[in-house]
Amino acid sequence: MPIKGLEDNTIRSSISALNARLADTITFRLALKQAHWNVKGPNFIAVHELLDQVAERVALHEDTMAEQVQTLGGQAIGTAEAIVKATGMKPYPTDLVQSDDHIRAICARMADLGEKVRDSIDEATEAGDDATADIFTDYSRQLDKDLWFLESHLGEAPKFA
Ligand SMILES: [Fe+2]
Repeated sequence: MPIKGLEDNTIRSSISALNARLADTITFRLALKQAHWNVKGPNFIAVHELLDQVAERVALHEDTMAEQVQTLGGQAIGTAEAIVKATGMKPYPTDLVQSDDHIRAICARMADLGEKVRDSIDEATEAGDDATADIFTDYSRQLDKDLWFLESHLGEAPKFA
């Protein structure tokens, strides 16, 4: 049964946002695995292992979003065929090798996903679904932290120093 106290329109909006971010997240997690498997170059072991750890953390949020769809009385959409149509993520190249190239490609997509998740926080908050907004907020915080972990390998100066 859907959660009491939420309007049907709010629930529909949350289910739609959760499924949209689920499609983006599965797509991004597969990009992380693509990078994890193929990366070569300086700091190989550190980058190879970090990419897999990030994929595992992303998978936890993926599961939380899919299960929130159930909590709201909806249908989670996570098949390969459906996510290809639903995702707004840029395709991940299959010819990258060097560590820096993978990190830049992953970081660009992670920043884009972070923006999408932040938009979903606003959407859920405006619709009055604080629990779903909290799920997106928790996910956003993890993406930001892992973006820092990955970007740090590029050795660039802080933006606000
Ligand atoms: Fe592995």
